[in-house]
Amino acid sequence: MNLVLLGPPGAGKGTQAMRLSKAFSLRHMSSGDVLRAERKGGTELGDRVAEYMDSGKLVPDEIIVEVILAQLKDPGDAAGFLLDGFPRTKGQAESLDKAMEAAGCQIDLALSLKVPDNEIIDRITGRRICPGCDAVYHIKTLPPARDGVCDKDGITLIQREDDSEEVVMKRLAAYYAQTEPLEAYYRRKELLGVSDGTKSVDDVFTDLVGMVRERLGNAVS
Ligand code: AP5
Ligand code: MG
Repeated sequence: MNLVLLGPPGAGKGTQAMRLSKAFSLRHMSSGDVLRAERKGGTELGDRVAEYMDSGKLVPDEIIVEVILAQLKDPGDAAGFLLDGFPRTKGQAESLDKAMEAAGCQIDLALSLKVPDNEIIDRITGRRICPGCDAVYHIKTLPPARDGVCDKDGITLIQREDDSEEVVMKRLAAYYAQTEPLEAYYRRKELLGVSDGTKSVDDVFTDLVGMVRERLGNAVS
């Protein structure tokens, strides 16, 4: 089973992807995490994408499609993959469909998390991440046990470079212009599931699991 997670910045894609991938033994692939790892590693690709990411713009399709599709070729032991943050444009969705078709598989469900802009800003500006294990916290809604320190490995938490209010406004504009239209793309294919992302993390997860199970015809327990 192959899933796509759609939603604006801060909608909870990463939070839910971690849980869903565990629940259904899927390989979680976050395009944002892939790009941030390239930057951290100081690669040529990392240098090429830095300016786009820091200014809240999407990385051009010709760069991101190649990077993500190359990674999808190796599914490992997983029962499928869960794409978090890809596709984000119609061109990316079409390239993904072509690659799936060539590999004899398909996208089974696209899950879209809906959260209004005012809540997005609170979530993004309050988010803290662990640079060691990528765990995600929120200063108000999901604080670590010890202020500013990761519960899992004790490393000092940081803010993502693109998590300022100014850049979030640009990321939101990119979402509405380029990514939200993908809801219609997947709805036409009868693959769209929409979830109220303002609910608690547990309740959103329950809704998403319900949609995945329905799609699977209760084949997965
Ligand atoms: P990316 O890293 O994908 O960022 P994003 O889409 O903007 O999404 P975020 O990771 O910010 O949010 P999220 O939905 O994962 O939320 P999270 O679970 O962390 O992309 C970054 C950049 O890379 C892009 O701007 C672009 O430049 C480039 N890029 C990436 N993919 C690309 C592509 N395909 N094409 C072109 N460019 C691409 O949650 C956020 C916060 O909210 C956390 O603090 C969390 O604790 C909290 N929270 C989560 N759920 C809830 C809840 N239910 N209730 C309350 N709080 C919650
Ligand atoms: Mg994320």
